[in-house]
Amino acid sequence: MAARQTGCVTGAGGFIGSWHVRLLLSGGHYTVRGTLRDPGDGKHAHLRALEGAKERLQLFKADLLDYDSIASAVAGCEGVFHVASPVPSSRSTNPEAEVIAHAVTGTLNVLKACYEAKVKRVVVVSSCTAVFINPNWPKDKAFNEDSWSDEDICRKNQDWYYLSKTLAEREAYVYAAKTGLDIVTVCPSLVIGPLMQSTANTTSKILINYFKGDRETVENRLWNVVDVRDVANALLLTYENSGASGRYICNSAPVKVSDMINVLRNLYLTYTYPRNFVDVEEALTASSEKLQKLGWTFRATEETLRDSVESYQAFGILG
Ligand SMILES: NC(=O)c1ccc[n+]([C@@H]2O[C@H](COP(=O)([O-])OP(=O)(O)OC[C@H]3O[C@@H](n4cnc5c(N)ncnc54)[C@H](OP(=O)(O)O)[C@@H]3O)[C@@H](O)[C@H]2O)c1
Repeated sequence: MAARQTGCVTGAGGFIGSWHVRLLLSGGHYTVRGTLRDPGDGKHAHLRALEGAKERLQLFKADLLDYDSIASAVAGCEGVFHVASPVPSSRSTNPEAEVIAHAVTGTLNVLKACYEAKVKRVVVVSSCTAVFINPNWPKDKAFNEDSWSDEDICRKNQDWYYLSKTLAEREAYVYAAKTGLDIVTVCPSLVIGPLMQSTANTTSKILINYFKGDRETVENRLWNVVDVRDVANALLLTYENSGASGRYICNSAPVKVSDMINVLRNLYLTYTYPRNFVDVEEALTASSEKLQKLGWTFRATEETLRDSVESYQAFGILG
């Protein structure tokens, strides 16, 4: 059996971070370090309750903008999963300070600390938002890893989150090319799935909004979604597979909003769902072929939706 490794997860208490910590602990092959801005905050209690946490999880107080705190957390690790980054739920009034600096300087701080600590591989969580805003991409072709979002368009549209993820991922590759640090980036689409923490993160709220009963008519967009547990698995797969390199889009089969609502209506009759769907022309899709070639298959959207709703009910987010 392979020797146990030490892996560090930044943003361990977030939606994706929590599932990734759980996955690393579950196999018994990893000792896990998780970084949190405030380890004393009760919202992180679910991490300490995880199986294996008592023996193999250490929580570090660290802020992405504080290099020394990040360096302490990654020293002695073989692998680092850089998950932390702001995911704002509304448009920021000071995007440089509130979003972009945390994403870009934060990523560079993590990479520099990893380089100094001789970490073997860093898996950086980027996003399909760093892929989709590309006017030069052929309209009828699914986006793949060759596409990069146009920074000027993100700026012009004030899509600060999109810009933050695009800049951070680009800077990560510049740093890796300069130093030889082994990095892989994973670009998930919209991540949904069961919550481990008791409050809903930004993207779970997008799904929860469909249950509110206050919108009779909605746009029938094509949703590019992925289950949070599949994202965690993609991070581990790209870390453990020595042949993995570059970017990996992480997106399951796209689903129309109307089809998603039909699935939910069949599972949970009692909620008031939108009834009218207005078709829209735009139908972006992204191909996960590269990730699937590493051997990953995505779970069915129905399972994701069912498990999401059950967790919202368990935490009292939905009645
Ligand atoms: N959810 C999606 O649909 C989606 C899709 C593609 C990519 N992603 C990426 O996935 C990652 C995690 O997102 P998520 O959905 O899990 O969101 P989340 O639950 O809001 O998690 C974000 C985490 O980042 C931490 N963080 C933010 N700024 C920080 C800083 N300066 N120092 C230290 N920690 C900081 C937050 O810590 P606090 O708890 O202290 O605020 C939180 O733990 C992000 O990189 C995001 O861009 C998400």
